[in-house]
Amino acid sequence: MGEIVRLQKYIAMCGIASRRAAEELISDGRVCVNGKKITEQGVKVEIGADSVSVDGKTVKVKNKKYYIMLNKPSGFVSTAKDQFDRPTVVDIIKKDLPDVRIFPVGRLDYETEGLLLMTNDGDFSYNVTHPKFHVDKTYIATIKGGMTVKGMNKLKNGVYIDDGFKTSPAQAEIVDASEGYTVVKITIHEGRNRQVRKMFEAIGCKVVHLIRTRIGEAELGNLPQGHWRHLTSHEISCLTNM
Ligand code: URA
Repeated sequence: MGEIVRLQKYIAMCGIASRRAAEELISDGRVCVNGKKITEQGVKVEIGADSVSVDGKTVKVKNKKYYIMLNKPSGFVSTAKDQFDRPTVVDIIKKDLPDVRIFPVGRLDYETEGLLLMTNDGDFSYNVTHPKFHVDKTYIATIKGGMTVKGMNKLKNGVYIDDGFKTSPAQAEIVDASEGYTVVKITIHEGRNRQVRKMFEAIGCKVVHLIRTRIGEAELGNLPQGHWRHLTSHEISCLTNM
């Protein structure tokens, strides 16, 4: 008898999507088990015995897992496919690993640069992105104009974004200030859509350049832009055992 798992976990184990994204695939009616369309959550399948398909294609649990760090350039979307046909981060990896179905762990905005993790391990993605695991993410934000002590304190204490959501306390420090610009290093553990930009907006500042430099123990270091590397086993285990 094979291991019995929930359908969304099975899909994540196949490297198709994170568990949360798999739940959406199920409710969107894109998943069949033994030829029958499943739209409710909670269905269990037996690995190796039940046949699961997504968009009509049979998906199987594969063994090889990939854990990749990409230094994302601006001008790429962090999804596998883009409705406007813009280049995607998956295109960058596909050039080197054509047979691997890999997806981004969370997102960076189209114009944001820096550290983006990519994997075919849905559980890993869940661990890194789920707010309950509180994984720290560090960004270097260049702001137009100056920055006040009051503004910095607001960022550190939490600000209101998204119609009333108060961000958790952040670590923030000014790392450079030159004519017309201020560079702020900020560390947060939440991952709301465009959160860093919105946090600065909330204190009246405009982000003109944004780079992510760290996720948990994984540091971007001097990985050149547009290049990727495999995570070390130390980085993988730190990010898995948060
Ligand atoms: N916060 C943002 O505003 N943008 C990103 O890409 C990531 C975090």
